[in-house]
Amino acid sequence: MSDPLTPYGNKPMVTPIVNAVNYEYSSFEVLRQITDGEIDGYTYHRDDNPTVRAVEKKIAALEEAEDCIICTSGMAACAMVYLTYLSAGDHLILFHDIYGAHYKVSLILERMDIEITWLDACDGHKIAEYVKPNTKMIFCESPSNPLCKVLDISSLRKAADKVSALLVVDNTFATPYHQKPLSLGADIVVHSATKGLGGHNDLMAGAIAGSKSHYDKLWFTRQAIGTTLDAYSGSLLERGLKTFGIRAEKMAANAMAIAEYLADNSKISNIRYPGLKTDSGHSIAAKQMNNGFGGIMAFDIGNSQDDAKKFISELKVICHAVSLGATESLICIPYLTTLLYMPPERRTVFGVRSNTVRLSAGIEKTEILLGDLEQALNKLEIKSKPKTRIDTIETPSKRKGADYADIRI
Ligand SMILES: Cc1ncc(COP(=O)(O)O)c(C=O)c1O
Repeated sequence: MSDPLTPYGNKPMVTPIVNAVNYEYSSFEVLRQITDGEIDGYTYHRDDNPTVRAVEKKIAALEEAEDCIICTSGMAACAMVYLTYLSAGDHLILFHDIYGAHYKVSLILERMDIEITWLDACDGHKIAEYVKPNTKMIFCESPSNPLCKVLDISSLRKAADKVSALLVVDNTFATPYHQKPLSLGADIVVHSATKGLGGHNDLMAGAIAGSKSHYDKLWFTRQAIGTTLDAYSGSLLERGLKTFGIRAEKMAANAMAIAEYLADNSKISNIRYPGLKTDSGHSIAAKQMNNGFGGIMAFDIGNSQDDAKKFISELKVICHAVSLGATESLICIPYLTTLLYMPPERRTVFGVRSNTVRLSAGIEKTEILLGDLEQALNKLEIKSKPKTRIDTIETPSKRKGADYADIRI
């Protein structure tokens, strides 16, 4: 049957944006075939969308997965994974070194009687000691947000195997250009596709890649709770994927040049970038990452948050904004942004300080980025050499939703 939109068979160069919420059935037999899963058909947007489905297949190919399911945000993807696989009485191992919003989700999971152990990624090699008979899932990021700590994914696999737990790896920082967690032993890979996969600061999406059987289970959850992505964002994500490889390559090259430049500067301390040979995660990263080490790094500026604020305010090219993996270089102070919703003492428990910044290299010319950093550093007067210390804890933020005690209900 010819497609009414392209009756002469000339295929459009981009997947059309199908905004339909519902689809007219051509017969009851077709309805049966769709609902029985015999054919890939469409009935209602919450179930599936053809624009989004085309992108799912592309991300599955990037992650070398059997399939992929896309949803409305990276946190929606993580929440879908938790909801699909965890039940009351299960034990979940999380790392302090993961995106801050997991802390909020963990409060909700605890209310549902899920037991959680938080580990420092630096103790990742000891994970076998923390695995218990009821451990159902180990969830990690490598490199982690924001300190870019590296975990050995194949050794986490061995620990998970002791109790048949699921190993879930958030591959947002590494991206499939540099790392394929499924080939290293992960069961499921999650992404904030808002970041490097989309890459242009103009869409929010999440992606979960794995086997067909995981796809089916996660599809059930998405259909039930309605986290299906809209077709327009799906189309933007498809466009982002077209340049993903060259963007990832340039970001990693820029990040390497920046990290090498900053590592020698006396106003900077505690630089963390897995590409630096001096980085504690370098040897494992070199084993499990390819074609570079990603575009993100973290470092401390001067001795105080005021030093970090002054430095950021002087930057002319690198933008002061959250998010990462975009065409523009972005910098922020995680203590004041992604970690804001945590109790103050938890924000510093795994090594972040109030003067730590996270820098995500974009695709600008390397010399322009180095010049921008240099002029901002030149304007910064630091009285004493930066020390390795944890800053005094500040008063909790009054920002909406920041009263974590209330979340416990
Ligand atoms: C590593 C990582 N995972 C998940 C998320 C959440 O993604 P989203 O903002 O798309 O919900 C983020 C957001 O910054 C992230 O950095």
